[in-house]
Amino acid sequence: MSNYQDEHRRSLADPAAFWGEQAQHLHWHRPWDKVLDEATAPLYRWFSGAQFNTCYNALDRHVDGGRADQAALIYDSPVTGGSRTYTYRELRDAVARFAGALRDNGVNVGDRVVIYMPMVPEAAIAMLACARIGAIHSVVFGGFAAPELAKRIDDAQPVLVVSASCGIEPGRTLAYKPLLDQAIDLSSHKPAHCIVLQRPQVVAELKAGRDLDWNEAIANAQPVDCVPVASTDPLYVLYTSGTTGKPKGVVRDHGGHAVALHYSMRAVYNVQPGEVFWAASDVGWVVGHSYIVYAPLLLGCTTVMYEGKPVGTPDAGAFWRVIAQHRVSTFFTAPTAFRAIKKEDPRGELLRHYDIGCLRTLFLAGERSDPDTIAWAQDMLKVPVVDHWWQTELGWPAIANCQGIEPMPVKPGSSTVPVPGFDLQSLDAEGAQMAPGQIGNLALKLPLPPGALLTMWNNEQGYRENYLTRYPGYYLTGDAGYIDDDGYAWIMSRIDDIINVAGHRLSTGAMEEVLAGHPDVAECAVIGVADAMKGQLPVGLVVLKAGVERPHADIQKELVARVREQIGAVAAFKTALIVPRLPKTRSGKVLRATMRAIADGQPYNPPATIDDPRILDEIAGALKGRG
Ligand code: COA
Ligand code: AMP
Repeated sequence: MSNYQDEHRRSLADPAAFWGEQAQHLHWHRPWDKVLDEATAPLYRWFSGAQFNTCYNALDRHVDGGRADQAALIYDSPVTGGSRTYTYRELRDAVARFAGALRDNGVNVGDRVVIYMPMVPEAAIAMLACARIGAIHSVVFGGFAAPELAKRIDDAQPVLVVSASCGIEPGRTLAYKPLLDQAIDLSSHKPAHCIVLQRPQVVAELKAGRDLDWNEAIANAQPVDCVPVASTDPLYVLYTSGTTGKPKGVVRDHGGHAVALHYSMRAVYNVQPGEVFWAASDVGWVVGHSYIVYAPLLLGCTTVMYEGKPVGTPDAGAFWRVIAQHRVSTFFTAPTAFRAIKKEDPRGELLRHYDIGCLRTLFLAGERSDPDTIAWAQDMLKVPVVDHWWQTELGWPAIANCQGIEPMPVKPGSSTVPVPGFDLQSLDAEGAQMAPGQIGNLALKLPLPPGALLTMWNNEQGYRENYLTRYPGYYLTGDAGYIDDDGYAWIMSRIDDIINVAGHRLSTGAMEEVLAGHPDVAECAVIGVADAMKGQLPVGLVVLKAGVERPHADIQKELVARVREQIGAVAAFKTALIVPRLPKTRSGKVLRATMRAIADGQPYNPPATIDDPRILDEIAGALKGRG
């Protein structure tokens, strides 16, 4: 192992040399002209001039290189009782055939394909098939409702949508196809075709001429080979929550993304080819893209795709069962999952039924890891528990205790140190570096390493404005925090209105837009309040229009249903409080941070410009009575 300081310094001193070296581990159909292309700075490009294919590197390279019969993907589905293993050869063949089906249905290089699927292997097959033929996938998380899917369809303008007849949540089956049909009705853009995987639990109705059954589509298709594309071409667009109702389409490339993920598997996760890596997330999130699908396969590992929950499928021993059964060496999940397990099985009784001696490290991300959860996990599993920090935009961890470089002493509550490639700084309002221990805006000095977003889909201006303008020469993370005397990073909070519910990133602005659309609502605010299990939960504060005399309980029910129908169950929006007024500054800015502090029982200091401080007592009363 090398020394962390040396490796980090080297990555920043000469990024082209550093990443050029890392890129040698992958196959290039044509070598690059430049490792780091600064021609369009501050929009940087990696490996320009090169020809590359991510699917080739994730599958064919391993089939040809001796891993054809090694397990590539293990599908484990307690919700259906099923399980299936694909070797690298089987996965490559399934992907090649589905790529043929995409081609047969008009998908070409650069075309977009929206994938709206549950956690079934076909979701990964569809993603890799797009990569194989140079099409750009855009996966939409299954917990989003039809209007959210419609927004993404309108922005991505897909030629084709891949979906399934249903998803399965504990105790209920969720028909996906009616949601897809509704989304296509709502969207202005109409995809030419939909390929639908019929699951035995629900049979979807197919629209003649537009919809095709997955099995029929592949039955008639010929396998196709990988199409080399420009390394800088988009591999995917992944929408994530911004501060408004309009999701941001993060664009990732082929070559840089693969180099970064491949590096991270060794440097951050300390995984070796052939080992079993499990990220218990969903393909709809960035963790699913990076660490269920691409990174483990790029390294030649076995990845686990788990269709279940940490608890209830069937019990709080589910994770231990999967780790033991599939001999998982490295496990990645969100702290909320551990809090859920701890609540049901605080003494870890269920752990005793399984031999999890294969497990080397647990990684946690997606939200703050509270020291209690870290301590409990460590106590139960007896392996290092590594908190690491990243964002959809960055694509891979930016702050971590890099297990493959030099494991460092843990400071619970800190995600440890910046990963090589990331120059993390805490800045004051003017852009000067804060002294160690002082909270500022966390920013990353440009260029960002490979694997980070190239731009926002259809919205380069938005990318510049949201991330690059606040501090020229830096990427603004949107998180506040500090760096201590030892160089450890401490994440404190978001500086915007994005909240984190059970490790899921959500926009309170989007929820406000939905509440404001209710005919009885005059104005509203949604805040994220602390929750012992999910980290945060959204709470709506709503002012009704003058003269509305309907029972409040009816309106509250309608508001909750509205968020569920328009954003999705994943928003976990269950509380709408009706208040007489919202606290504001004299210029009309709603004091969300003050309301959040009141809700969390934190000390608060309303700004001197508050319009009428008495409103805070009304808000405190409403929040206290929320139950
Ligand atoms: N399709 C449709 N609906 C979905 C869904 C999907 N893919 N995923 C979640 N939902 C629904 C759930 O059924 C639930 O609906 P309900 O309000 O009717 O019960 C709602 O969305 C909220 O789901 P969830 O956040 O999963 O909450 P939960 O109470 O069902 O489970 C946890 C709590 C902690 C067990 C769960 O949130 C969890 O496993 N979290 C880990 C998240 C994670 O891995 N994040 C990735 C970051 S690394
Ligand atoms: P997402 O884009 O969904 O990955 O969400 C990114 C945001 O989640 C970050 O900007 C942080 O606010 C939060 N986050 C992710 N990982 C961590 C972590 N390890 N500690 C604290 N916050 C985190």
